[in-house]
Amino acid sequence: MASKRTLESCHKVMDFRKLAEKRLPAPMFHYIDGAAEDEWTYRQNTSAFNQYELVPRFLVNVENIDTSTTVLGQKIDWPFFCSPTGYCRLFHHDGEGGAARAAARTGTIFCLSSISTTTIEEVAKASEGPKIFQIYVLKDRGLSQEYIQRCKDANYDALCLTVDVPSNGKRERDLVTGMTVPPKLGLSGYMNVMKHIDWSFNYLTHPPTPSMVNIEHKLPKGSSNISVMDFMNTQFDRTVTWKDAAWMIDQWDKPFAIKGILSVEDAKMAVEVGASAVMVSNHGGRQMDGCPAPIEVIGDIVDAVGDKLEVILDGGIRRGTHILKALAMGAKACMGGRAYLYGLAAGGEEGAYSSLKLLKDEVQNNMILLGCTDVSQISSDHLRKWE
Ligand SMILES: Cc1cc2nc3c(=O)[nH]c(=O)nc-3n(C[C@H](O)[C@H](O)[C@H](O)COP(=O)(O)O)c2cc1C
Repeated sequence: MASKRTLESCHKVMDFRKLAEKRLPAPMFHYIDGAAEDEWTYRQNTSAFNQYELVPRFLVNVENIDTSTTVLGQKIDWPFFCSPTGYCRLFHHDGEGGAARAAARTGTIFCLSSISTTTIEEVAKASEGPKIFQIYVLKDRGLSQEYIQRCKDANYDALCLTVDVPSNGKRERDLVTGMTVPPKLGLSGYMNVMKHIDWSFNYLTHPPTPSMVNIEHKLPKGSSNISVMDFMNTQFDRTVTWKDAAWMIDQWDKPFAIKGILSVEDAKMAVEVGASAVMVSNHGGRQMDGCPAPIEVIGDIVDAVGDKLEVILDGGIRRGTHILKALAMGAKACMGGRAYLYGLAAGGEEGAYSSLKLLKDEVQNNMILLGCTDVSQISSDHLRKWE
């Protein structure tokens, strides 16, 4: 675990990335950090923010700043929350419970992945903060239905349906490192793990990282060592359509978001099936390489459907100013994965908290510099396209 002093030496989200790289064996680090094929979309997700400038206004009273907003029925202290990410206990034994507590400590939402290493119920117990569960429509519809019932029983605040995984993206760093879940390492992978004594010690001295906690009871007998990735690939149902999304929304009586939207046409479909929000996202560049960055398409989506549902930007956020640019484009809030995962990998719950807190402080300071005392004041008047 990184010492408090080491965490304190991080001054930006990308400093946590460096710490995570040092601390994690290569297969785990590249699983977080990598993306699909040439990783063009992944790089674009962050670099496309540079095409926009924030134009500040001065001589306004910025003594009191309110960074809070309301999204998916939850009032949060700042306009960012944690995207769903699988297998967190592989990165740090604090896992999803630690990440959920870190999110709650900064006053925001934690979204739990379907392929988490901590159950729906355990995360509900670990943190009292607001929680969303991320769901897929799987071949076994009974399983999707069971997830929904468990989220109702555990009092989750919202659901989000990820729609951009009809198949897994081709993540070439994982092919090189041999990353599978649970890890099945060859000699070089094994040597690499041994070099990371801290991580190995914690991995071996904490309860084993379960691979499919939420669906263990559904696995065929004798398949305990099956790779989750292989199993999930057999479960993604390529016949899923908007009808299935409508069916799922029908089963749930709280806010429901559709995650993975990149076009105006699909955003309109989300309105039609009764979604409360769309998460404009390309899965952090992990699915199709070559598709647009969320910041590039969010403006058109807001113009088309922003008065009918909430539009949330997901992906590429590494700076507070990225969040402000998305809000100026009309996003209700932003979300992100690696921004807290680097922190979690670097130092568990404390690391995830430090990294989120740093981002939150950047939002607050840049609102002062922009001349806005309330997030609702941030508008297209503050944005200029760089030419
Ligand atoms: C390690 C990792 C695991 C992920 N697992 C999931 C998942 O299980 N379900 C999902 O909908 N998205 C998953 N995502 C995508 C994130 O929810 C989010 O869309 C992405 O991280 C946003 O990009 P950012 O990392 O640049 O913020 C994962 C992302 C990462 C980095």
